[in-house]
Amino acid sequence: MNINECLSYDDVLLTPQYSNIKSRSEINIGAALDQNHNFAIPIISAPMDTVTEASMALKLGKMGALGILHRYNKIEQQLEMAREVRKNLPEDLPIAAAIGITGDYMERATELINGGVTILCLDVAHGHHVLMKNALSSIKDRFADKVHLMAGNIATKQGFKDLAAWGANSIRIGIGGGSICSTRIQTGHGVSTLQSVFECAKISKASGVKLIADGGIKNSGDMVKAIAAGADMIMVGSLLAGTTETPGEVIKNKDGHTYKVYRGMASKEAQMKWRGKTSSLEGISAFVPLRGSVSQVVNELSVGLRSGFSYSGARNIFELQS
Ligand code: XMP
Repeated sequence: MNINECLSYDDVLLTPQYSNIKSRSEINIGAALDQNHNFAIPIISAPMDTVTEASMALKLGKMGALGILHRYNKIEQQLEMAREVRKNLPEDLPIAAAIGITGDYMERATELINGGVTILCLDVAHGHHVLMKNALSSIKDRFADKVHLMAGNIATKQGFKDLAAWGANSIRIGIGGGSICSTRIQTGHGVSTLQSVFECAKISKASGVKLIADGGIKNSGDMVKAIAAGADMIMVGSLLAGTTETPGEVIKNKDGHTYKVYRGMASKEAQMKWRGKTSSLEGISAFVPLRGSVSQVVNELSVGLRSGFSYSGARNIFELQS
């Protein structure tokens, strides 16, 4: 048995570097998933039913970030959301939606692409899987390079290599590190996301397949650490939970405090809602306080990111990583 030392976000700090940046406006925090998909802000909202539907995707799209429409609904419902985003966003802005890798995934993919989706996220808990291989290759066969394929989640170098070889254009890294995850408790499996990012980054840079750090990001400081370790973009759930643009009812307690639900897609509550039964429970459900609009939250995160780049004397992601 190999026992390796792993570092997590809280174990690590970046050492401040000499800077000749006079104003934070000189800093560009923009990122790209490929030559057709550029973003002013390297933040992606998670494809979860308490995070990303049309209103979140629209707001993030307008800000130059990205929201991925979740897949825990009927194809028509997800398509309706994609159409709403497409009507309301300029033609050249990307639209992203999640699909699974079994069942009706090809029909869903086809409808979404016809509905204007330009990024398909093959979204499963354990993405280093033969079913992922089959799904990526079938979608590639049918649509070639018409759509960007984001796939995951995985946690290892071998996982990154394989998904890249199977046709993924970007890969979500992170198993069990999310704020609402209980995979590590339920299954005993997981790797620190920062460690996974660090290990997969070399392959990512050499192959051109983009790396998305997903889960466990608690603040803009963690984002800076993930990007410095090699991530191109950052996926978040809890940081955007409770904003006005998330789906779900506002709940008021007896003291007048207001909340929304934020839950893992493998929690009992989420599984009951989307498939009417439960299998392995690998997530939890929580109440999170309301916290205003997503633009406010993302603006604050962007300010933190710029400041983080400036402490490292970096004008852009490339300089931060090098
Ligand atoms: P944060 O920390 O941003 O994490 O809230 C969001 C990410 O968590 C993953 N996710 C889950 N992981 N069980 C898990 O183990 C779940 O039920 C679950 N739901 C979401 C997902 O990668 C998301 O982006």
